[in-house]
Amino acid sequence: MYRAKPLLALTTLLAGLMASALALAATTPTYDQARWDPIHFKPAIDSATDEQCLACHKEVLEPSIRAQSPAGVKTAETLAWYQTLSTYSGDQETFHRRHMVTPLAQELMAMKCNTCHQGNDPREETANSSATGLPDQIQRKHVNPDICLMCHGQFPWQKMAGLPGPWSEFGNIFQENCNIACHGAVFRTVRHQVNYLKPEAIEKAGGENGDVCYGCHGGRSWYRISFPYPRHAWPNMPPDTPEWAKDRPTTSQARFLEGVKAPEVKQ
Ligand code: HEC
Ligand code: HEC
Ligand code: HEC
Ligand code: HEC
Repeated sequence: MYRAKPLLALTTLLAGLMASALALAATTPTYDQARWDPIHFKPAIDSATDEQCLACHKEVLEPSIRAQSPAGVKTAETLAWYQTLSTYSGDQETFHRRHMVTPLAQELMAMKCNTCHQGNDPREETANSSATGLPDQIQRKHVNPDICLMCHGQFPWQKMAGLPGPWSEFGNIFQENCNIACHGAVFRTVRHQVNYLKPEAIEKAGGENGDVCYGCHGGRSWYRISFPYPRHAWPNMPPDTPEWAKDRPTTSQARFLEGVKAPEVKQ
């Protein structure tokens, strides 16, 4: 009989432990549950907030740069060709931080996780390897590279009447400024009205330093092609559409317009 009390305590303790284990199981998904969480796919990903993604992935926005590469190249002494524009500042940073957290990103852009991430097939990254693959997902990538092309394409000088060649060679004719002679009041003045950019801040910064504009329009081009931007009507737009622009859309992609007030254009 003298043992009854501790036994009771032990039972209570065990019952308590089981209850909390159950509660934990109910709130913490297994690795596979989390990996296949519907939030990674359409339609849930379209309305996912950054907070929801970061609840599991907060590491992607944390500083995590090595002091040197495994081969010994020191980070602090490294500068890539795309880091030589006058807008580049600060220490080396991760890809995600350069697009969401660091000063230039915060000033000019408002990208969210689902601006780039639209779902991908985690099973070998391809729909073609199993009967249950997801054929509508992007193949072999986590993100559709067309997204990157919007800000990392070539400078399409061939389309700009009056520009004799690449900006890197002829920008000096225009005082290295896109707005002074051309884009301030004359051509394609309705632009950047999308939910992942900050149009007023871009005009302000770009008006002061052409590298701001050039940075997204040729200055950091990973591609040999340019993005076929939609051609928005602008005030005093010439009535004739040039040949190259005939198949261009006249508005930005619908998902980038959510939450954006359409600009008023007087013709
Ligand atoms: C419940 C936790 C959880 C949430 C919420 C979550 N993820 Fe994940 N995610 C995971 C896990 C676990 C993996 C698998 C990690 C691994 O082993 O590579 C994963 C993998 C990924 C991958 C890599 C996929 C691959 O094919 O390798 C991407 C990209 C990703 N998540 C983005 C997101 C985005 C964007 C959101 C918000 C829309 C999000 N995740 C929300 C848990 C989560
Ligand atoms: C500018 C576009 C862009 C944005 C914005 C973005 N990502 Fe990514 N993300 C990528 C690319 C590109 C990769 C690498 C894809 C690959 O390896 O195929 C990636 C990879 C990942 C991975 C896989 C693990 C890794 O680090 O390689 C996770 C998880 C992830 N992103 C989560 C997020 C979350 C959460 C957010 C929002 C806080 C976010 N991403 C915002 C483009 C983006
Ligand atoms: C909305 C415009 C925009 C989009 C979309 C975009 N980027 Fe960028 N990217 C930038 C800007 C602006 C910088 C310069 C940031 C800085 O210098 O601080 C940059 C810088 C980079 C860098 C250099 C980072 C460094 O350490 O200097 C890489 C690499 C990169 N982007 C890759 C990508 C890839 C891959 C994608 C598509 C998944 C992508 N970007 C989509 C605007 C964009
Ligand atoms: C952070 C990256 C970024 C910066 C900085 C930037 N742009 Fe853009 N620009 C874009 C993207 C992305 C689009 C396509 C948006 C869309 O889909 O409507 C675009 C579209 C345009 C267009 C096409 C206009 C149309 O008809 O829609 C012109 C012209 C343009 N930009 C000029 C400029 C000029 C001039 C500056 C500097 C004052 C500048 N850009 C700065 C990313 C940038």
